[in-house]
Amino acid sequence: DWTTVNVVDEQVALIRAQVGDKRAICGLSGGVDSAVAAALVQKAIGNQLTCVYVDHGLMRKGESEQVEKDFVAATGVQLKVVDAEQRFLTALAGVSDPEQKRKIIGREFIRVFEQAAAEIVAEAGASGESVEFLVQGTLYPDVVESGGGTGTANIKSHHNVGGLPEDLQFALVEPLRKLFKDEVRMVGAELGLPEEIVQRQPFPGPGLGIRIVGEVTKERLDLLREADAIARAELTAAGLDRSIWQCPVVLLADVRSVGVQGDGRTYGHPIVLRPVSSEDAMTADWSRVPYEVLAKISTRITNEVPDVNRVVLDVTSKPPGTIEWE
Ligand code: XMP
Repeated sequence: DWTTVNVVDEQVALIRAQVGDKRAICGLSGGVDSAVAAALVQKAIGNQLTCVYVDHGLMRKGESEQVEKDFVAATGVQLKVVDAEQRFLTALAGVSDPEQKRKIIGREFIRVFEQAAAEIVAEAGASGESVEFLVQGTLYPDVVESGGGTGTANIKSHHNVGGLPEDLQFALVEPLRKLFKDEVRMVGAELGLPEEIVQRQPFPGPGLGIRIVGEVTKERLDLLREADAIARAELTAAGLDRSIWQCPVVLLADVRSVGVQGDGRTYGHPIVLRPVSSEDAMTADWSRVPYEVLAKISTRITNEVPDVNRVVLDVTSKPPGTIEWE
């Protein structure tokens, strides 16, 4: 019988059996999945868990502050914050291929976790036990779409499934592996997580790194962060946060088109808006966002974001398009 209470009880027992009295770390991404996974594991093993927030420089505007504040306030979990922007940007330099980006980001995440784990042990002092487990908020659709399920097509390497390095030194704890997003939200609510966390729209672990078509650079990230913040603010102001599943904002960094702005000709980049509605992200439809809202977003982005002179709307369902562009 599927109830959230049963899921919580069952997972807590399984986590305790798996982890015993060892230490675990959990990477927080700011999203629902990692938050609920962390809360479940914390319920099971308390302070044997330390959460690690890796600021990879691929987050949206204001997101790092939110994770550090909201999640800790809600759960009282032990949190370690790692500033790894330079490390990720260096590793991603010169790379345009989407799968390669995903693999690099997945690998760097693990390297940072390994380092964080060593520091956690050092800080713990005398007891000096190593961290043996890595908690991840992997969901059922992540497993299926990374080809890790039952021989299904390999669509993309989700950073927490297909993107893991082969020499991984942690055993994985993945308490959400059989759940869909709506179920994860219910479990989160059952665990007492606040609305802002439980209802947060999905955001991929590789962050804005897979929303820049082309090479990822600091300048491009800053530009995309501005455009994304505008789109999010206007969608929220229009009351569309619950009807839209998520709205990737994508920078076509390798594309330029001619425009006319201010005093003359420009040759800038297009920004793509990709609002979708969905039940579980396995399939999706493009959202019919009111024209006035789209107009406002377009005007603001082209006025406020340098080097962007065109805003386009993605009207493709999934399939054939995936939700993210990479
Ligand atoms: P796609 O693009 O495959 O996305 O249609 C389906 C859902 O998964 C999210 N997504 C990810 N989430 N790590 C994540 O945590 C990833 O590597 C990843 N790639 C895609 C995407 O935002 C959408 O909600």
